[in-house]
Amino acid sequence: MGRLRSHDVLGLREMAPEEMTLILDTAESMKEIIGRDIKKVPTLRGRTVVTLFYEPSTRTRTSFELAGKYMSADTVNIATSTSAVVKGETLKDTARTLEVMGTDVLIMRHPVSGSCHLLARVAECPVINAGDGMHEHPSQGLLDLFTIRQKKGRIAGLKVAIVGDIHHSRVARSNIWGLTRLGAQVTVAGPSTLLPPQAEAMGVKVTSRVDEAIEGADVVNVLRLQLERQKGGLFPSIREYSRAFGVNRERLDRAQPDVLLMHPGPMNRGVEISSEVADSAHSSIEEQVTNGVAVRMAILYLLLGGGEAA
Ligand code: CP
Repeated sequence: MGRLRSHDVLGLREMAPEEMTLILDTAESMKEIIGRDIKKVPTLRGRTVVTLFYEPSTRTRTSFELAGKYMSADTVNIATSTSAVVKGETLKDTARTLEVMGTDVLIMRHPVSGSCHLLARVAECPVINAGDGMHEHPSQGLLDLFTIRQKKGRIAGLKVAIVGDIHHSRVARSNIWGLTRLGAQVTVAGPSTLLPPQAEAMGVKVTSRVDEAIEGADVVNVLRLQLERQKGGLFPSIREYSRAFGVNRERLDRAQPDVLLMHPGPMNRGVEISSEVADSAHSSIEEQVTNGVAVRMAILYLLLGGGEAA
């Protein structure tokens, strides 16, 4: 296995396609490890992984923690609500405090776009962006690429529809950068009030008609309606949103017969996605979660330069 050229993992916009492919290839070996009865290798013994989350998370934080533990690293989770952050400590002071205790990698989620880049400027250890505002969520983008590649055997040439609240979605941005760099044809669809004005400049087709985006798609990635980030007035009501933009059986039938249905989670069942399709044979939603552990193991391994993966 090679090494990452980058010191940090901050976004897929700045990641070279070869680095993405290296992470996906490495994640294949990591997935084999997490399929074993004893999920433990000594690769990162003596290394310390710290997660610092200023926003809630189930999947990302737990999978980074498990990724570290499966490779024998010491893992520490900082919940900002019970840390000195509530006393007004700055991000820089928090980061330096954690670093001088011996942290080898800092993984941060923060509500402000660009905050992980700021952290990377003040920290000496590698920084992993676990989601910064509406900007990027690179490990989610990589696990989605990994899932598509495993299920479809390739990424180049696939027709991918990303549907829902694109404007507020860091997952959408990381998916768009990753998918377009690796040769997929991407269409984004949602209410025109939830489509970012700069989307076309990112190399994707944009439409407010979900049916048009899904027509003939190989992959449909449904995004959560981010109710906590809505300022109001962007769509008439939840019921109206579900009727006009929600992905249900009838809509999914417009895609290829072997369409792969994805959602990064957490889902608003009955809003952006119906339970019928979320729990169908097309759905890779649970496998995405498993793959998230493998991809995050690969990222930690490649950043921290572990020894033999197995
Ligand atoms: N997909 C995702 O980032 O989920 P969490 O918010 O649970 O980490």
